[in-house]
Amino acid sequence: MIRPGNPADLPAIDAFDPFGDSRADEVAAGRLTVFGQAGRVVGFLSVATDALLGHPFVSYLAVAPDARRTGVGSALLADTERRHAGRRLVISTEETNAPMRALLAGRGYTVSGVLHGLNGDGPAEVFYYKDCSRFDLRS
Ligand SMILES: CC(C)(COP(=O)(O)OP(=O)(O)OC[C@H]1O[C@@H](n2cnc3c(N)ncnc32)[C@H](O)[C@@H]1OP(=O)(O)O)[C@@H](O)C(=O)NCCC(=O)NCCS
Repeated sequence: MIRPGNPADLPAIDAFDPFGDSRADEVAAGRLTVFGQAGRVVGFLSVATDALLGHPFVSYLAVAPDARRTGVGSALLADTERRHAGRRLVISTEETNAPMRALLAGRGYTVSGVLHGLNGDGPAEVFYYKDCSRFDLRS
């Protein structure tokens, strides 16, 4: 089940959040959705509306390691695409992140460009976009 995140979800999110900081501000701002499975939060996605030249931008997407490859990430993204129907949704990932890049390619995202220097001396960041349609049936 996908629903808005609330402060009570934060310990569960922290348990698998790979991004190294807290999601509390995004929860408070109503920008974070969670995927709940058998009473447990196993995935989250946060989106910033109008963040990038007026386009909505997916800031973070993560799935608990033991729940990966079961459709959770794709479902969270599909929900966000539906909520932004008619908008151009932007998202980025490190160029070495093969699972995320495969997920985005499978959902019909187009590479917008590559930015160097955003991850320190680490991998370049690849930006993607998708024009969200009301009729995209991919879950
Ligand atoms: C990237 C991530 C969110 C994917 O979530 P997920 O729930 O495992 O993805 P899904 O099960 O919805 O996968 C959908 C499709 O994406 C692709 N995919 C996902 N994981 C993959 C992997 N490890 N290898 C290859 N393709 C993969 C596949 O095409 C898959 O479809 P299939 O299972 O029918 O082949 C997850 O691996 C994760 O949390 N990674 C760590 C955090 C991260 O990198 N976030 C993205 C940066 S913002």
